[in-house]
Amino acid sequence: MNNILNEDIFINSLNSILEASEAKSMPTILIVDDEINNLQLLKRTLRGKYNILTASNGHEGLKVFEEYKNSICLIISDHKMPVMEGTKFFEIINKTSPDTIKILLTGFTDIEILTDAVNKCNLFRYITKPFEPSELEKVVENGIEKFELTSSKSQMLKDVKELFYKTIKSIASALDAKDPYTHGHSVRVTLYALILAQSLGLNEKELEDIETAGLLHDIGKIGIPQNILCKQGRLTDEEFQVIKTHPLNSERLIASVKKLGTISNCIKNHHERWDGRGYPNGLKGEAIPLSARIIALADTYDAMTSTRSYRKALDHSVAMEEIARCSGTQFDPTLTGRFIELSAEIENAKNDPETYYKKYSQLQKEFKTYSSVKDLVESKF
Ligand SMILES: [Fe+2]
Repeated sequence: MNNILNEDIFINSLNSILEASEAKSMPTILIVDDEINNLQLLKRTLRGKYNILTASNGHEGLKVFEEYKNSICLIISDHKMPVMEGTKFFEIINKTSPDTIKILLTGFTDIEILTDAVNKCNLFRYITKPFEPSELEKVVENGIEKFELTSSKSQMLKDVKELFYKTIKSIASALDAKDPYTHGHSVRVTLYALILAQSLGLNEKELEDIETAGLLHDIGKIGIPQNILCKQGRLTDEEFQVIKTHPLNSERLIASVKKLGTISNCIKNHHERWDGRGYPNGLKGEAIPLSARIIALADTYDAMTSTRSYRKALDHSVAMEEIARCSGTQFDPTLTGRFIELSAEIENAKNDPETYYKKYSQLQKEFKTYSSVKDLVESKF
């Protein structure tokens, strides 16, 4: 008897686990409608194939969505509802989750209003009432298919971007680790360069390039012997000639990576000077790419404010004075002016690079989660 009971318990438990895992693998949809009969009809039509969540108006719908947004693939909402209309509800959802499939149920066929709703809310389809259950089923099926395609594609893109970002960050850290005195140098240079670049209104792609270039700007130092790179005291002329090979080495190293093509010009020229006395080619003024002029300022500021084997770190204000002194000779005067205006933000970033890097990083932005629906709702109502 005891055995039978145990077997029953075992089988029931197994069934519950299977049911739960099946439920987990079924797509989750949210239905929002204030009319209970409609809600029941929709539930009956879609039962068995989907996990169904319901809400009786837009506000409640937002709450449910906030709680389950990571699992909801598709939302069906009535348009005419008290408190918040369906299109308004979808407009809010669309801001945080553009990939969620949205289907609007509506009693009217005003094409102008519907077209506007399709564009504003990124609607997948609208269905006019009364609807054929089989028609609704088909639309939902297509919607889920589209969601799965889009989400796996965008997940893949996010994964690739994340992998790319983590790879270049590891390369930068490995490079900085060659010399204990340059620990964190690449990240800080990137951070200061991003602060300056963002204030100049550079676009997203340009900022991404600045970030990648900042992290990899000294990559060519990998080929420089440790005894020269980490030498305590002054370098001889020959040793300095070896150091000076690193921008061209960097360019050569990244030339084989197709995605990095747009930053090679920046990396190659980050030791050029505004007055033409830099290296490797002695470019002058605006012949030096803007991104390289930005990295040059960030690089010098970090070198001055970091302890080196041959001297202690300079104070922020002393470094800023030195940068101002080199305006028009070593550095682009316009950029120098802007860098000095940003003095407070740069000093804060220097004191807390980790927090500030998260704030300014463009490459990390791609795989940060969307902002919360709650934030949007609270700011709107
Ligand atoms: Fe360099």
